[in-house]
Amino acid sequence: MRKLWFMTGNRGKVAEAKHALQPLGFDVVQLQVEGVEISEPQADDLEEVARSKIEQAIPHLPSPDDALLVEDAGLFVDALHGFPGVYSAYALKTIGFNGLLNLLQDTTQRTGSFHAVAALWLDGKIHLSRGICQGEIAMQASGNDGFGFDPVFIPHPIQYNGIAYSTDGKTFADVDMIEKEKFSHRRKALDGLIQILNESKPASSS
Ligand code: IMP
Repeated sequence: MRKLWFMTGNRGKVAEAKHALQPLGFDVVQLQVEGVEISEPQADDLEEVARSKIEQAIPHLPSPDDALLVEDAGLFVDALHGFPGVYSAYALKTIGFNGLLNLLQDTTQRTGSFHAVAALWLDGKIHLSRGICQGEIAMQASGNDGFGFDPVFIPHPIQYNGIAYSTDGKTFADVDMIEKEKFSHRRKALDGLIQILNESKPASSS
C-alpha cells in the first residue's frame, strides 16, 4: 500500500479519510510536523491557504514517493460578504457562533455556505478539490452534536446518490455525523479527490 500522509490535528478527519481512501490502495496516516511552524497565509481564498500549507509540508514528507493531503474549510455568510470564510477558526474562537448570530440579528438574509478545499500532493503534482454545502444561518443556536458553527447552520435539502435528503430545518448540531456527512462540504471535497485518485490508479493498489 502506498502511504498518504494527512496533515491535520483532527483525528476524526483522519478516520474519515482512511475510510474513503484505503479502498483505493492508500494507507492514510496522520502527519504532525514536529518543531516546524506551518503558517496560515493571509489569504482570502481557501485554495491559496491549502496550497501554501501543502507546499510548506512537502519537504517534511518521510519519502518523496508518499502522497500528502491537506484540508481547509470555512463558513461563508452571504449577508457578511463571505465573512468569516478563511477566518472561521479565529472567528469561532473570538466571537463564537453567538457573535455570528448577533452580527445577523437585523437581517432576514440568512443564506451561507460551508466550503472545504482538499489539496493532494501526488506524484509531483498538487490536485485541488472544493466541496460546498449550501444552507441558512439559523435564528438561534440548536443542538449538541458536531463542532464549530454546526449549531447555527441549517443545510439546504440535497440530492445524494439520486436520493433526496433534508434535515427538515434542523441544524448540523441537531443531526448525527452520518446524517451530516450526506450534506458535508468535507465529504464532497474528498469525493472530488477520490475521482482524481481513481484516475491515477496507484500501481500498488490492492
Ligand atoms: P478547518 O479548516 O476544517 O479546521 O475549519 C476551520 C473552521 O471552520 C473551524 O474551526 C470551524 O469554525 C469552521 N468549520 C469548518 N467546517 C465546519 C463544519 O463542518 N461544521 C462547523 N464548523 C466548521
